[in-house]
Amino acid sequence: TYRKRQKLFANIPPGPKPWPVVGNFGHFLIPPFVRGLLQQPVTNRQNMNAMEYFTDMSKVYGDVFSLFAGTSLMVVLNGYKVLKEALSNHTDVFSDRPDIPTVTIMTKRKGIVFAPYGSVWKKQRKFCHSTLRNFGLGKLSLEPCILQGLDTIKTQLLHLRKHCGSAGMDLAPLVSNAVSNVICSMALGQRFHHDDQEFRTLLNLMARGLEICVNSPAVLINVFPLLYYLPFGVFWELRQVERDITAFLKRIIKTHRETLDPDNPRDLVDMYLLEMLAQQAAGEEDSSFTEDYLFYIIGDLFIAGTDTTTNSVLWILFYMVLYPDIQEKVQEEIDTVIGQHQTPSMNDKGRLPFTEATIMEVQRLTVVVPLAIPHMTSRDTEFCGYTIPKGTVIIPNLWSVHRDPTVWDEPDLFNPTRFLDQEGKLLRKQYFIPFGIGPRVCMGEQLAKMELFLMVTSLLQAFTFSLPKGQSPSPLQGRFGLTWAPSPFTVCVSPRSSR
Ligand code: HEM
Repeated sequence: TYRKRQKLFANIPPGPKPWPVVGNFGHFLIPPFVRGLLQQPVTNRQNMNAMEYFTDMSKVYGDVFSLFAGTSLMVVLNGYKVLKEALSNHTDVFSDRPDIPTVTIMTKRKGIVFAPYGSVWKKQRKFCHSTLRNFGLGKLSLEPCILQGLDTIKTQLLHLRKHCGSAGMDLAPLVSNAVSNVICSMALGQRFHHDDQEFRTLLNLMARGLEICVNSPAVLINVFPLLYYLPFGVFWELRQVERDITAFLKRIIKTHRETLDPDNPRDLVDMYLLEMLAQQAAGEEDSSFTEDYLFYIIGDLFIAGTDTTTNSVLWILFYMVLYPDIQEKVQEEIDTVIGQHQTPSMNDKGRLPFTEATIMEVQRLTVVVPLAIPHMTSRDTEFCGYTIPKGTVIIPNLWSVHRDPTVWDEPDLFNPTRFLDQEGKLLRKQYFIPFGIGPRVCMGEQLAKMELFLMVTSLLQAFTFSLPKGQSPSPLQGRFGLTWAPSPFTVCVSPRSSR
């Protein structure tokens, strides 16, 4: 095996020389000014985030390069051509997910997001994907729910602006509540008032669980898994949070089971329970459709569907504040096509090309999931002239595709018209991939697009967003949590009808 490993690793993609034990990430432990003195081979730009760092490295080592996290090999893929080749053309090799101990503790590799690539993932995803489609149209459409959430935001904005004065207000909690409520309605059939205790508890537990896994000493569990069992500190807290989320969701599934009406499914949980019963009736003995699996799917929908959409809406509003001329053009289009009094609806999608182009341009520049979700090779493979061994963690750098100067003119420039043709019609660009590509492409893409469209049109129809008085535009800065989020910002809000 040692010989085999030597042979495989002889032709891995190039990359910076790893440090012993810590691999290539050791220098992040060193303060930036010392890092500058050590002259990193690639760049000494300070405070650089991972996706920019990787994109810069690709200029030195090529679009396929290696890094070591500890002693584990990671390969970063950059640029559209390479990403498409791996994720769309070699799906059988590049579609698995790695086993990351903290994530595995929370997900047990069930659900969809972190499930291994295989028949169970395929069946579960197919079912959930087609169920999500039901929420686009007809009786179960989520449109009224999204619009109801927007009514709440609008009322809150009118109320808050009286108290905030010229300091402006933070939109994040309002947007986050509305987005979380959409997932609650779709998955659990319930809307919660924004200060409902049960709702708050669930959201806080999920946020805390993630915070601990991503941003606390609990990350050490990834190196020493036994730390998870320590009876104190964040390790103990993580187990408590896990237990409380389990109790909460199990209670909701139980109530659904007890009140299930096969002729009137109310939400995804009902539909899943019905599918479970149908498979049992058909004698499918090894069916993966179980209440246990359903539990992890609900968790996935909250984790994948809330932070992503919330931060996309916040980025769009942030850009509108920094580019008031574009905000005005979007409002002009909304006024001409929908008017000031009619509520925007999905029927208006397709009639507001400039608004849609603006949403897409912000998504292009900001990429809220810039490094997608890690993939993993499911067997040894030859790729772009290199050998990539089975079990290698693959990082698709979506951000590099959106900033690639060979496919975008002046990629760093904010210019919504790049998505419009000469007649002002919307252009679909294959290099625009904020939701990823291939079989692991975002499962909630359609729902997310619906939320972004309705939220942006409704909010810009009703309000103008601007910088607080005396505040000069700061450079667009983001921060990494679970996703790439705008740094906290406040805005002033003026109702448009009173202009
Ligand atoms: C996966 C982006 C909203 C559910 C992903 C991936 C990206 C992404 C980049 C990873 C693709 C890969 O690994 O190659 C986004 C963005 C969103 C958004 C930008 C909002 C603007 C949503 C929503 C839901 C959702 C609303 C569900 C209701 C999922 C799921 C996966 C996923 C289940 C995992 C798919 C799989 O592994 O098979 N998303 N997402 N996402 N997303 Fe989203």
